[in-house]
Amino acid sequence: MRFDTAIGAQAFAILSVWASAAQAYAIEMRESLEYCCASLETAGLTNVFYPASDSYETRTESYFSISSQLRPYCIVQPESAEDVAVILTTLTPIADCLFAIRSGGHTVWPANNINNGVTIDMGLMNKTTYVPDTKIAKIEAGSRWREAYGALESYGVTVPGGRTSTVGVAGFLTGGGNTFYTGRRGFGCDNVVNFEVVLASGDIINANAKENSDLFKALKGGSANFGIVTRFDMQAFDAPLLWGGLVTYDTNTTDDHIDAYHNWTDNIENYMDGSAIPFWTYSPTTKDISITVAYEDTTGAVSPPAFDQFMKIPYATSSMRKDTHKNLAVELELISGYRNVWFAITFKNDKALYKKALDLHKQFVSDWKAQSPDGDFICHGIFQAIPTIFSKHSVEKGGNVMGLDRVTENAVMFQVQLMINGVRQEKIARKRMVAFRNAIKQFSVDKGGAVDWEYLNYADFTQDPLATYGEENVEFIREVAAKYDPDEIFQTRLPGGFKISHVA
Ligand SMILES: Cc1cc2nc3c(=O)[nH]c(=O)nc-3n(C[C@H](O)[C@H](O)[C@H](O)COP(=O)(O)OP(=O)(O)OC[C@H]3O[C@@H](n4cnc5c(N)ncnc54)[C@H](O)[C@@H]3O)c2cc1C
Ligand SMILES: *[C@@H]1O[C@H](CO)[C@@H](O)[C@H](O)[C@H]1NC(C)=O
Ligand SMILES: *[C@@H]1O[C@H](CO)[C@@H](O)[C@H](O)[C@H]1NC(C)=O
Ligand SMILES: *[C@@H]1O[C@H](CO)[C@@H](O)[C@H](O)[C@H]1NC(C)=O
Repeated sequence: MRFDTAIGAQAFAILSVWASAAQAYAIEMRESLEYCCASLETAGLTNVFYPASDSYETRTESYFSISSQLRPYCIVQPESAEDVAVILTTLTPIADCLFAIRSGGHTVWPANNINNGVTIDMGLMNKTTYVPDTKIAKIEAGSRWREAYGALESYGVTVPGGRTSTVGVAGFLTGGGNTFYTGRRGFGCDNVVNFEVVLASGDIINANAKENSDLFKALKGGSANFGIVTRFDMQAFDAPLLWGGLVTYDTNTTDDHIDAYHNWTDNIENYMDGSAIPFWTYSPTTKDISITVAYEDTTGAVSPPAFDQFMKIPYATSSMRKDTHKNLAVELELISGYRNVWFAITFKNDKALYKKALDLHKQFVSDWKAQSPDGDFICHGIFQAIPTIFSKHSVEKGGNVMGLDRVTENAVMFQVQLMINGVRQEKIARKRMVAFRNAIKQFSVDKGGAVDWEYLNYADFTQDPLATYGEENVEFIREVAAKYDPDEIFQTRLPGGFKISHVA
């Protein structure tokens, strides 16, 4: 009895020391965070928002995925590159100020947000200016594609950007950017001719083929490892109405779709103006899997021969029509307001791998039906062609750091998007999604169809996309990061996102 009490007392003493240490730490942390935010106000920034204010809550709710809706100590919204410079030169000398950068807020895990830190929200910097003489679109980094396309429409031009209208330009372009136009023009990033960037030092510089050309290349796929981009200057081009829309099918057409997509992928080098994205979707309204394909011809040709094999498949509904780039991207919106766990891997364009991926998707859905407490979940299994012609365009346009040119056979990306409710469900979901990813990866290895490359913009934080860019690109990104951010601010003070310093 006495023995117990003695232990109890000792444990209590240890616990209370621990509790007061933890409390002291919490207070210290709160104070330093208060100081980070107060310093921004002292430095003259007017848009500093705290929890419970309308601006803070509205901006938090505007993240696509609930998983990214963290609670930063404050959100600061710059209105210019100069504001961004002041933010960086204010925060970087205070060692405890951690921060996140957010543009469109579409990364489905918190690469774009932070608890116990400051979120730099680019949302007010959303103007697009067009220079007709050079056909350059100057797009501020907080824009979403919807606004950019809308501004360019009146000039009869567009730029290759998101296929969903609410995606932000900054995350998209610094992570690559797969577009309706990739078959013709390479990735979104390949069409950037200049980045305006604020470095950790507060210097505002331009990166293009002539000035800071190493940074120019590294920003095309290298993500938030170097600085904060404040403006993207993109090469625009004349854009007639596109032919496009969504066509839905019964799942019993799966084999026809596999045949058609396999041929489609190999044919892109002969027909560069199209895009086709097939989705196998479990939806809580039908409680079943159905197929939806987004088709587009970017020249506006109606049903050109390259689509024949798809057009022969009996369909349920179709919205195919001629329409603007913007409207087609609006139509392809995905539902927000769920927690999300996504992954994407790439493998050779081999029908056996498509079949296996879809079998695993079906199995996953059936298991998750039993797991889900409310039955309210969505699970997309999506294919996106990654033919070698994509990286040929990239190389022709000066090159990026994604390393896709190392893949010498046509490939296809398989992406799974799981949308669910609740923190606990997300934990369980991630474990199962990692197992799903490993299973399809192993199958591709066993069949001799593995491709190492992973797409950063769709990767889960349990993936390591930068490492899949290849040693040479990884080394290059490291050098450029060290040159433009010698104090490693973007490695140590910006914990979110894929860090080059974390690549083995
Ligand atoms: C509904 C939906 C549709 C999508 N469609 C496509 C598609 O068609 N094609 C495609 O390729 N991808 C697509 N994606 C993926 C998309 O490209 C990525 O999620 C991308 O990161 C989104 O950009 P964002 O600005 O919204 O990202 P955010 O989540 O705001 O930021 C992404 C990353 O970039 C960093 N970052 C943000 N702003 C800056 C800046 N100014 N300077 C430096 N770093 C910055 C952030 O810190 C973060 O690490 C889609 C995603 C969703 C949710
Ligand atoms: C764009 O920025 C302006 C201020 O620069 C702001 O008033 C507006 O709400 C922003 N638009 C969107 C869609 O966020
Ligand atoms: C596929 O399903 C549709 C209805 O959803 C049906 O009309 C059609 O006959 C089915 N086809 C086959 C081959 O089973
Ligand atoms: C599609 O590819 C298959 C082989 O996988 C071939 O038999 C078929 O003729 C092709 N179809 C078209 C329309 O090219």
